[in-house]
Amino acid sequence: MICAEAISCNGRPCEIEVQGLTRRFGKTLAVDSIDFRVGRGELFAFLGPNGAGKTTTINMLTGLLKPDAGEVRYQGERFDPHRLAVKRLIGVVPQHNNLDRELTAAENLLIHGRLFGMSGKGLQQRIGSCLEFADLTAKRDTPAGKLSGGMKRKLVIARALLHQPEILFLDEPTVGLDPHSRRKMWAFLRRINQQQQCTVFLTTHYIEEAEALADRVLIIDQAKIIAGGTPEQLKRSAGNYVLDIYREDEVQNEFFADRPAALQRLEQLDTSVRIRETTLEDVFLQLTGKRIAP
Ligand SMILES: Nc1ncnc2c1ncn2[C@@H]1O[C@H](COP(=O)(O)OP(=O)(O)OP(=O)(O)O)[C@@H](O)[C@H]1O
Ligand SMILES: [Mg+2]
Repeated sequence: MICAEAISCNGRPCEIEVQGLTRRFGKTLAVDSIDFRVGRGELFAFLGPNGAGKTTTINMLTGLLKPDAGEVRYQGERFDPHRLAVKRLIGVVPQHNNLDRELTAAENLLIHGRLFGMSGKGLQQRIGSCLEFADLTAKRDTPAGKLSGGMKRKLVIARALLHQPEILFLDEPTVGLDPHSRRKMWAFLRRINQQQQCTVFLTTHYIEEAEALADRVLIIDQAKIIAGGTPEQLKRSAGNYVLDIYREDEVQNEFFADRPAALQRLEQLDTSVRIRETTLEDVFLQLTGKRIAP
């Protein structure tokens, strides 16, 4: 089930268009003919449990992996990973940090800039402004291996922004970060989206991350897209209110369009019950019968 919204560009010019994208690894179907569009300037979350196919998708979108079938278009043009122009259009933050630990923060950016044909004063200025944007100016001359987990992640992001991409792909930007650093990272990603006018496409298996950050969410499970829309649309489609009904050793959920309907049902029950607002976790549970992070 895909909301109509998920396959439109949300009222914006179309930045990314994906049709029938498919990839197998031997007998494993990692991504099964997925379709979606991302509008320019959107902050878009690709949400799914471990092994759902998120990294495989992002790797195909960024030219690291060849699809078995399907098509990717950027700004209407068919994606050819060998074309420099399209490489400049995108910035990539991989799931695992791939910094050179021996090199300083600034040197890591310098090497990336040279790979993109940048040099001289322009490159130095860009390194300065990206480090500043990521609050890493004080760590400019610190070897990357000596930065904290959150700083390393921000340095990888600063590096991806160096050549001023229009689209930033981030594979699990907050994995391994503590809750405080994760929230700071959310604020940083919002700033990138708003101040750098970057379309942001991120993958995550953290429900609250998708809910807190994304204009639109696409949910992937077992290689297939199972739902999409704004967090509000997805929750509305499940029912905005939920009762947790505690029965012996299990909790049953019942969903309702509004609070009065949920309260009416609650009054009929003679067991322990909690009323609360629906989350994206509930949406996932309702669609798949399992939790996203078991
Ligand atoms: N290089 C590979 N060789 C074989 N199988 C692979 C390879 N890469 C991914 N897979 C398989 O494809 C499926 C999707 O993997 P993928 O890494 O895309 O998932 P994911 O959603 O990114 O998961 P996670 O949240 O754990 O990062 C899994 O079943 C995985 O085992
Ligand atoms: Mg992954």
